[in-house]
Amino acid sequence: MDLLLIQSQEHETLPLAELKAVLACEDIDCDVEVIAQGLILLKSLNELDFYKNYKVLVRRLAYTHEIHELILRTDLYNLERDFNSVNWNDYIEKDFVVRIKRFEKVNIDTTAIERKLGHLILSSNNAVYGASEKTDGIDFKVNLNNPESFIRVVATQKEVFIGIEKLKLNKKHFQDLKPHKRPFFYPGSMSPKLARCMVNLSHIKEDQLLLDPFCGTGGILIEGAMIGTKLIGSDINWKMKNGTLINLDYCSNLDYCDICENDFEAHHIDVRELKLYKKVDAVVTDPPYGISTSTGGEKSGKIFHQFLESIDYNMKENAYLCIAHPHYLDIDPFLNELGFKLLERHKIKMHKSLTRIISVIKKTN
Ligand SMILES: C[S@@+](CC[C@H](N)C(=O)[O-])C[C@H]1O[C@@H](n2cnc3c(N)ncnc32)[C@H](O)[C@@H]1O
Repeated sequence: MDLLLIQSQEHETLPLAELKAVLACEDIDCDVEVIAQGLILLKSLNELDFYKNYKVLVRRLAYTHEIHELILRTDLYNLERDFNSVNWNDYIEKDFVVRIKRFEKVNIDTTAIERKLGHLILSSNNAVYGASEKTDGIDFKVNLNNPESFIRVVATQKEVFIGIEKLKLNKKHFQDLKPHKRPFFYPGSMSPKLARCMVNLSHIKEDQLLLDPFCGTGGILIEGAMIGTKLIGSDINWKMKNGTLINLDYCSNLDYCDICENDFEAHHIDVRELKLYKKVDAVVTDPPYGISTSTGGEKSGKIFHQFLESIDYNMKENAYLCIAHPHYLDIDPFLNELGFKLLERHKIKMHKSLTRIISVIKKTN
């Protein structure tokens, strides 16, 4: 069985890197085919685990907009014929909508095709358009606003993909929990989407232990909470430590977040003195750059070096570290010196004089 993913195109490399990290750490075995930037097929997924894995991807991915079970792969020329060969009773129970998305600037009349395909589904079952009385077939209806079955058609220059969205991603969370909407706010917290992506790049799984030693308002830890990890935060500033606890407590009361108060803790401590009672599975963090957030009077280069020294002690063997740092800070000599291995690096242009670098690093010593 295959899944069709439509990803954000707001960044060139992060959406695919995030997906690959989740597939790897969740042991989801499949072939990844990149059809176009932002359009991915996950092929030959095991049938038995299919919906379990579908659910995991929906729960975790930040830079993926839609995930569909693939029904059909065809081309524009054969679209109607192949669409008609589908037994829509297997996919639709009540009402549905057909929506088209174009990739690679393919030149088609989307409204006309949506209508045509909608009619094909209706006539496949001898059902009625927009009415509710039963005819010979099952009572399918078109519902443009709140359909039970969402049929996604994706057209590229060469091919057309038809899928059905069985599970929806929680996009509302990324809006509702933007930094300024949380109970405790302080400037300098990254977007929830990027924070979630970094958590995913760290290869952490549900119930494993995630540390952010520069936790600030807890933005990264909140995203760990959303995928069910245990959490430790620490910050040199006690107000931030308290703010993190306030924000995590708020999350534990959200109906879509499973963590409880035993799953998280926060400490008021300088990262250079951090010695946790247990080693963590991953570290995800956004240290101060010395521009908009406090570095406690220290130059940021020095802080990064001392941070890496101290964090090494707190990580399990083979644990991942996903860290954001400014382009002008070369952390590679520190990594080499301390036995960390750089796995991948992504650039995010913030403004003219700042590019944020996301480095994914593994402890190897
Ligand atoms: C960029 S902010 C982190 C933002 C955070 N990700 C959030 O969601 O709010 C960096 C944080 O590092 C803290 N900090 C600075 N120097 C530190 C040190 N030596 N040890 C621990 N925390 C430190 C600051 O107090 C600040 O809260």
